[in-house]
Amino acid sequence: MIYVTRREVFSASHRIYNPNLSDEENFKIYGKCSNPNGHGHNYTIEVTVAGEINSDTGYLIDLTQLKKIIRENVIDKLDHKNLNLDVEFLRDKIPTAENILIGIWNQLADKIPAGKLYSIKLYETENNYVEYRGE
Ligand code: NI
Repeated sequence: MIYVTRREVFSASHRIYNPNLSDEENFKIYGKCSNPNGHGHNYTIEVTVAGEINSDTGYLIDLTQLKKIIRENVIDKLDHKNLNLDVEFLRDKIPTAENILIGIWNQLADKIPAGKLYSIKLYETENNYVEYRGE
């Protein structure tokens, strides 16, 4: 089994809040992340595909192809967007790193042509990231 990873970045804004709670209750849970007018992040994602090397190509997956799949299905939908309002696959979700990551996974899971999607990491800051492996 071999693991191949592609890193991509996007910038987006969000406000972390539960619309069923008051601003005060949201502030108690989420602090400044719930500030009413939102804030931005430069996000990094790392998409790892796992599988066997193709003996004809020497590749698990062509990274140019993987890059294109990630850009078309994820980056183009998230970059320079408001994650509370603009993104179909995040509608009705609180746009925490966890929920954004599950949405990204669902965008990519059935679009990897060689090997299988093994893990995705989403970095919200240099020090904070979440990882998902599909279960
Ligand atoms: Ni934030």
